[in-house]
Amino acid sequence: MKKLFAFFKRDKEISNNLDLDMSKIPKHIAIIMDGNGRWAKERNLPRALGHKAGVEAIRRIVKECNKLGVGYLTLYAFSTENWNRPLKEVDSLMKLLVEYLKNEFEELNANDVVINSIGNISKLPQICRTELNNAYEKTKNNKGLTLNLALNYGGRNEIVDAVKGIYIDLRSGKISKDEITENILSKYMYTGKIPDPDLIIRPSGELRLSNFLLWQSAYSELWFSDINWPDFHEKQLRLAISDYQKRDRRFGKVR
Ligand code: IPE
Ligand code: IPE
Ligand code: MG
Repeated sequence: MKKLFAFFKRDKEISNNLDLDMSKIPKHIAIIMDGNGRWAKERNLPRALGHKAGVEAIRRIVKECNKLGVGYLTLYAFSTENWNRPLKEVDSLMKLLVEYLKNEFEELNANDVVINSIGNISKLPQICRTELNNAYEKTKNNKGLTLNLALNYGGRNEIVDAVKGIYIDLRSGKISKDEITENILSKYMYTGKIPDPDLIIRPSGELRLSNFLLWQSAYSELWFSDINWPDFHEKQLRLAISDYQKRDRRFGKVR
């Protein structure tokens, strides 16, 4: 018992002593929120309760990012591949999304958060689309953190949609072939005017991107943790940012 207490205390000290350089806070953090199912399994709970616990982690991390002055937080909540899960699980995820938007709207709005989404949301149930559109319309002029919920998001699908958008504008003469550059292609992505993520975080021990921000992650710093998403706290976020601040981002150049 004594030992456990000592360990807890040391852990707490580490998190409190993590001095972050406030002038080097990443402008855009993106998180692959993974491990809800395993978190539930370890506790003999249904997967839906793992997702519910994951929403608590969202609450904590959104608040902390806003407090730290992060400009954009993109959360991978539902991938284009997640439709292949049992219908019951998909349903529970959609219900949680609506619940989250309903319960959190007032507080997020009061804290100046913009609630945005990326992905092909036209395929989501009507109730989700209505809540997302309402939340965006009411918060779009806020000046704090932009929360991007990646829903029915797939990096490859996003690139296909961008190519289609360019094709339409080429045909109508809105742009010419020579105008197509990397910058222009970026503008046709769901992320449009949002800067590329500086830091991508994936909890749960998996070391892959799973079709997340394929175009935008070209020069993102990656940070992985064995902790499952429902156990992700402010401390892990600070550890990731602290590690990010020590990295040398060369972008192919030499010093
Ligand atoms: C992430 O947790 C949530 C979504 C993908 C929607 P998972 O449900 O993938 O959890 P694991 O990977 O099975 O533990
Ligand atoms: C990635 O997690 C998608 C989200 C977190 C929404 P998955 O659990 O779906 O990814 P894989 O199957 O482990 O690659
Ligand atoms: Mg998973």
